[in-house]
Amino acid sequence: VQTAPNDKLQRFIGKIRDLPTLPRTVLRITELINDPRSSARDLARVITEDQVLTARLLRLVNSAFYGFPQKVTTVTGAVVLLGFDAIRNLLLSTSVFDLFAGKNQTTRQFFETLWDHSLACAVSAKTIGDHLRQDKSEELFVAGLLHDIGKIVELIYLGSEFSIIVDSVQTQGKTFAQAEFDMLGCTHTDTGQLLARFWNLPVKLTHAIGFHHKPVAAGQWAREAAIVHLADIIAHAVNPTGEGCCLPRMGEAVQATLDLTVADIEPVMRAAADQFAALRQSIQPVDGNAR
Ligand SMILES: [Fe+2]
Ligand SMILES: [Fe+2]
Repeated sequence: VQTAPNDKLQRFIGKIRDLPTLPRTVLRITELINDPRSSARDLARVITEDQVLTARLLRLVNSAFYGFPQKVTTVTGAVVLLGFDAIRNLLLSTSVFDLFAGKNQTTRQFFETLWDHSLACAVSAKTIGDHLRQDKSEELFVAGLLHDIGKIVELIYLGSEFSIIVDSVQTQGKTFAQAEFDMLGCTHTDTGQLLARFWNLPVKLTHAIGFHHKPVAAGQWAREAAIVHLADIIAHAVNPTGEGCCLPRMGEAVQATLDLTVADIEPVMRAAADQFAALRQSIQPVDGNAR
C-alpha cells in the first residue's frame, strides 16, 4: 500500500540505493534462524566471527534487563538463554542503527535523541504485546525500535530542508509528520517503509513502520501497527526528555483494535518505564565511547 504519491518519494528512491546494506553477518544469522535444522552452536559460530556482535550480545545477556543470576561468558550460553528470535531481533536492530551513526555534531544529537525515543518505543511495544498475549512480542520490539527509521533517511539526505522541518515543529507547534508533509508531500512513514522494503525486511515489520501513524490503514497488519502507534505515545511518557515532536493522538479506532482501557495502559506504562531504564544502560547503537 502506498500512502504518498510516488513522485514525492522519487527523490529518496535513487538515494536509498546508495545506502549500505545490512551487514553480511546479520543476514547470515537471519538465514540460520529461519532454518529449522540449525542449532544453537551453528548460530554461536557465526556470531563469534564478528567481535562487535559478540561483545554486544554478552553485554546484553549480562545486563540488568535480563537479570540472570549467573554471569554468561559464552555466546552459546547466551543463545540458549535468550532464544533464537530474541537474538536475531536484537542484532538486527542495533546493526540497523549502526549504519546511520552520526557523522557531525547536529546529526549525532538528533540521532541520539531518536535512539532513546526508539528504544522507549521498542520496550513499550513489547510490553503492550506481552500484556495482550500477542504472539512473538520480540517482533514488536524491533518494530518499535525501527518505527521512525524514515527520519534518519531524511536527516541524511535533506540537508537544510530537514532543519526547516525541525524548526517549524518547534516554532509553529506542528506535529513532525505535518511539518514533513507540508515540506515534502510525504512523511517519515513513507521514507521508512521505502527503506524497509529496500532491505527486504519482513512484511509485518514494513507495515508497522509504514502505518504507525494511521494503523487502521495497515490492512491485515493493523493490530501490529496499532501496538506500535500506542507504544509511540507511551514512549513519550516513559522518556519525556526524548524527541517530543512526533506525538499523534491515540485514535479511537486504535483503542477499539486493541481493546485496551486506561486502566490497562497504566501498568503497561510502569513496566515499560522500568525496562527502559534497565535496557538503556546495556544496549547502545554504537559500541565504545562514540556515543
Ligand atoms: Fe513516527
Ligand atoms: Fe516515534
